Amino acid sequence: MRLDHVGIAVKDVGAAKGIFQHLFGLPLDLERTVPDQGVKVVKLCSGESSCEFLEPTGPDTPVGRFLAKGNGPLHHICFAVPDIKAALADMKRKGARLIDETPRIGAAGLPIAFLHPDSCGGVLVEFVEKP
Ligand code: CO
Repeated sequence: MRLDHVGIAVKDVGAAKGIFQHLFGLPLDLERTVPDQGVKVVKLCSGESSCEFLEPTGPDTPVGRFLAKGNGPLHHICFAVPDIKAALADMKRKGARLIDETPRIGAAGLPIAFLHPDSCGGVLVEFVEKP
């Protein structure tokens, strides 16, 4: 599986964007608020991979609670898979616990799903379907 992106929880995606563009020259891929996931997303390209900065839209959101617990900045890693339903079935067969039993649509408009960190050595792992 190819590493698609690293998800990074921050208090201010605008500040993170400014720093990473200034220091590392990473071009902007997308910038979007996803209300149902409670996040502002800024994605910067780095070759075929990207850095996905996540700012909570409020304290009572998954990323808001994550930061309030003192976690971060690494939030998740994401692997690109050609067939997300097949990948989830494979994970289940291997005994992994899924957060998303069925894929949902992520900020980039592609199907995504998360595996539970308990099954991945404490790391939150995301799949994105990229045929
Ligand atoms: Co992600």
